[in-house]
Amino acid sequence: MTGIARRRFDCLVIGAGGAGLRAALQLAQAEVSVAVISKVYPTRSHTVAAQGGINAALGNVRPDNWHWHMYDTVKGGDYLGDQDAIEYMCRAAPRLVVELEHYGVPFTRLENGRIYQRPFGGQSQNFGGEQAARTCAAADRTGHALLHSLYQQNLRAKTHFFDECFVLDLLVDQEGYVLGAFALEIETGEPIVFEAKATLLATGGSARLYRTTTNALINTGDGMAMVLRAGLPLEDMEFVQFHPTGIAGIGILISEGVRGEGGYLVNSRGERFMERYAPKALDLASRDVVSRAIYTEVKEGRGCGPNKDHVLLKLDHLGPEIIKSRLPGIRESAMIFAQVDPIEGPIPVYPTAHYTMGGIPTDRFGRVVAPVRHGPEEAVPGLYAVGECACVSVHGANRLGGNSLLDIVVFGRAAANHILEHLGEYRYHRPLPTGAAEPALARLERWAQSGPGESVDEVREALRLAMEQYCGVFRTQDVLEEGIRQVEALVQRMERARLKDQSKVFNTARVEALELENLMEIALATVYSAAARKESRGAHSRLDYPKRDDVGWLKHTLYYRDERRIDFKPVRTKPMTVDAFPPRERTY
Ligand code: FUM
Repeated sequence: MTGIARRRFDCLVIGAGGAGLRAALQLAQAEVSVAVISKVYPTRSHTVAAQGGINAALGNVRPDNWHWHMYDTVKGGDYLGDQDAIEYMCRAAPRLVVELEHYGVPFTRLENGRIYQRPFGGQSQNFGGEQAARTCAAADRTGHALLHSLYQQNLRAKTHFFDECFVLDLLVDQEGYVLGAFALEIETGEPIVFEAKATLLATGGSARLYRTTTNALINTGDGMAMVLRAGLPLEDMEFVQFHPTGIAGIGILISEGVRGEGGYLVNSRGERFMERYAPKALDLASRDVVSRAIYTEVKEGRGCGPNKDHVLLKLDHLGPEIIKSRLPGIRESAMIFAQVDPIEGPIPVYPTAHYTMGGIPTDRFGRVVAPVRHGPEEAVPGLYAVGECACVSVHGANRLGGNSLLDIVVFGRAAANHILEHLGEYRYHRPLPTGAAEPALARLERWAQSGPGESVDEVREALRLAMEQYCGVFRTQDVLEEGIRQVEALVQRMERARLKDQSKVFNTARVEALELENLMEIALATVYSAAARKESRGAHSRLDYPKRDDVGWLKHTLYYRDERRIDFKPVRTKPMTVDAFPPRERTY
């Protein structure tokens, strides 16, 4: 490592979305030296794209209760979520939303001055048939508002930021302690070693794996892939959420908030087809249910447009005032990307890859946990993960809309609190062994090989297409096995890929190649896990195993990179203080 720049902090936070920033704020306020490393400028992190809102049982619009929120989340996740973590999250939600308000998040207001809340998918109809309204919204730009407020609070708290710095891998010693990370400064092309007593991964999801997605270019599963390369497993990677309403053909998000405000879906016959699939909740059933309904309508010939390949989201009946005040962002997106003003006409929509329910296994303190030598799981010393890259698991097999922004602030804060305890115990940096950065350096140097070879862009597009075709909404064993063959073949092609541009300064092609290596790891984790789970649950819908099987499959999948090994671990079905919600038939 001679000649490589080295920086030391108490805590390293990798990723500057809401999860990373909420954790960093807690640490900086406690006067810990904390560095946030982000491959983009922090306010370009993907949290900025979250539209509809953040769930908390504030009861501002209709009576509500954290316990109902907990029930909806357990049911929404098709009973695969860990109920201790779900209880923790739903109980904490009201306090943390008020805290965000105090940080400056400009929530939309009710006439009485309280935070505006809208109904969202999967929220119970407990109140005389009326649906709960639990999703706190800043118009349809809630993530934007939240991210900017958290960034500003971090600047005030003097968090150190390393913007446009791409982390390649974790640094780990022989005993398995995580000692920091190896990064590339994008501006100069120079490597930097970051040493830390605690490292928190908050690198977001990986839905760029799919051709049609709501996700930003940056969502390439970097933290998850680092964990795999460190020999640790990923959990429940078969569960990929398809958001029902992406702009058809493009995938750009049209918030569930549209349906929360009273918008609804129609097919080519003008039918409100959700009546057939979710007679009570209709368009506000959970996302897996609505996405499957849209696919079925299109497959059975009731799609709209010349190619009958989408359905329509109608909201003109809401009137210009509601659309302009509560849904200004989706109006803008629809006008730009679908050439439709939703005040006048419906938006063409189709499901689009949106969220990774699986990820790095953690407990509710954000500690990364893994079985040790096939024994019970233990915390990996010095390593934490929160947000979409983590699997706590509060979302189980299907996340409810509005629970993602909540997850990031609740577990960002919880992980930071645990890191404070950890730092009390681990007062000094452990020595970085010689050679700790060698594997990461080798990854970087591999892209300095020049000459003819495969194009990174072509391999990436082939991967995204293969995932769409062989690991989409509906799955069978044959199709998934073909998916495994296709992805393994792309791994081989990737080894032959070369970069034409070998420059150092701001070489984004190099970063994209490293990102594709990460996506490839995530693709393998996803297809192997999906082929292993022989039941249908939440977003994992197997035509050959159409039923949920709680006897055989109420368990989490663990995928290991070496030998593509699959293992399982039990679901934590016991909440912290209340009675468990046992699995029941899930209808909406
Ligand atoms: O539809 C939406 O506004 C997305 C929200 C979410 O994924 O939580």
